Amino acid sequence: MRESGDRHRANGNGWRQWYNRTGLPADVGRLNRCGRRTRGVERTVLFQPPIPTTYSGLSDDEVATAIVARKQALGGRLVILGHHYQQDEVIQFADFTGDSLKLSQIGARQREAEFIVFCGVHFMAESADILSGDEVSVILPDLSAGCSMADMAELEQLEDAWEFLEHECQATVIPITYVNSAASIKAFCGGHGGACCTSSNARAMLEWALDRGEKVIFLPDQHLGRNTAYAMGIGLDEMVLYDPALASGGLSPQQAGDAKIILWKGHCSVHGLFTAAQCDEIRESDADCKVLVHPECSWEVVQKADLAGSTEFIIQAVGSAAPGSKWAIGTEIHLVNRLAARHPQQSIRSLAGIQCLCTTMYRIDTRHLLWVLDELAAGRIVNRIQVDGETKRQAVIALERMLANVAPHPVAIKSRFAPRPLER
Ligand code: 13P
Ligand code: SF4
Repeated sequence: MRESGDRHRANGNGWRQWYNRTGLPADVGRLNRCGRRTRGVERTVLFQPPIPTTYSGLSDDEVATAIVARKQALGGRLVILGHHYQQDEVIQFADFTGDSLKLSQIGARQREAEFIVFCGVHFMAESADILSGDEVSVILPDLSAGCSMADMAELEQLEDAWEFLEHECQATVIPITYVNSAASIKAFCGGHGGACCTSSNARAMLEWALDRGEKVIFLPDQHLGRNTAYAMGIGLDEMVLYDPALASGGLSPQQAGDAKIILWKGHCSVHGLFTAAQCDEIRESDADCKVLVHPECSWEVVQKADLAGSTEFIIQAVGSAAPGSKWAIGTEIHLVNRLAARHPQQSIRSLAGIQCLCTTMYRIDTRHLLWVLDELAAGRIVNRIQVDGETKRQAVIALERMLANVAPHPVAIKSRFAPRPLER
């Protein structure tokens, strides 16, 4: 519902709605814990206007044939990237597939292509725009493909948290943001001595941060932060949860001062669907079945699991397992189904009995993909994701620090098959 402070403007591609989460006009703002008047919490939500109705009249085969023809016609000018959670109908057209880290690396290499069509979500397209050359246009086929986790951290909230920590902690605090965050959050981290991480190198980045400061604020995913820090030997009692919806994050100065890791209260709505009870059920029904989960799952789930690691780690773990292996996997359903189809000699199922689907990723379908390609063929760029120059300048610092700390192979965040790493 529109609030009194709402402002709207068309961005040429779709509608960009600016709204004030507090419901206050932006110039009224709110007082932060230090009594400073803030601008009010603003965030952007991108809306995808309907594409021409001709696309819904095409059969699936006609759409597929047209996409292939457009790809051929655009040749080397076009690169299509696809995240592993993407539906098969779309991923079949990707020139490169990967998890967030791999796709960031591929995005950073793009100097030849004119267009990157990103079949992922908004923060991934932003990263590709930041890392690729200015001459490359990054396109998201459906503007409503956002990420609920990324939406849980807003720049102004982070500024408030920073002010609180600066005020209350007599220590150097390093901000680390998961790449699943807005470009403005990455820019803040880059500009304040921090960095980005992905689930593939969260441990390396936490180690990097703790070499430079006594404390880390880790956002937006509390679970990735907690699971990674715990695996490094940092106790749960050394971590606190900062809730951006509460004054001072709901923390006393003492709690903030004593903590080593300050976890942002954010989570993934897909990986949040996996539970410790599901792990227990698997154990009881089939002792041979290994539980393999993504570290965006809760700490309780990760503790019950045999293995936890990034999307790329999950793919490698299953791919290198012996025939006849049994797996219950806690990650997005399209990837689980694809692994099951790719490895018929293994028994692969989802850890949850329900469909754990990333609904925003699922917004990217073949008709929207064809539409953006048709527009390119007609000389028009639609749905371009462009990060402004100043944000880019700071965000690239955070992303490059992340890319400089990548292991040659994806590593487990937790493995029951290896000794727990020694305390630092
Ligand atoms: P990775 O791609 O880093 O494994 O993260 C999973 C995810 O949730 C992407 O949005
Ligand atoms: Fe965001 Fe979770 Fe979807 Fe990844 S799986 S894009 S973190 S909502």
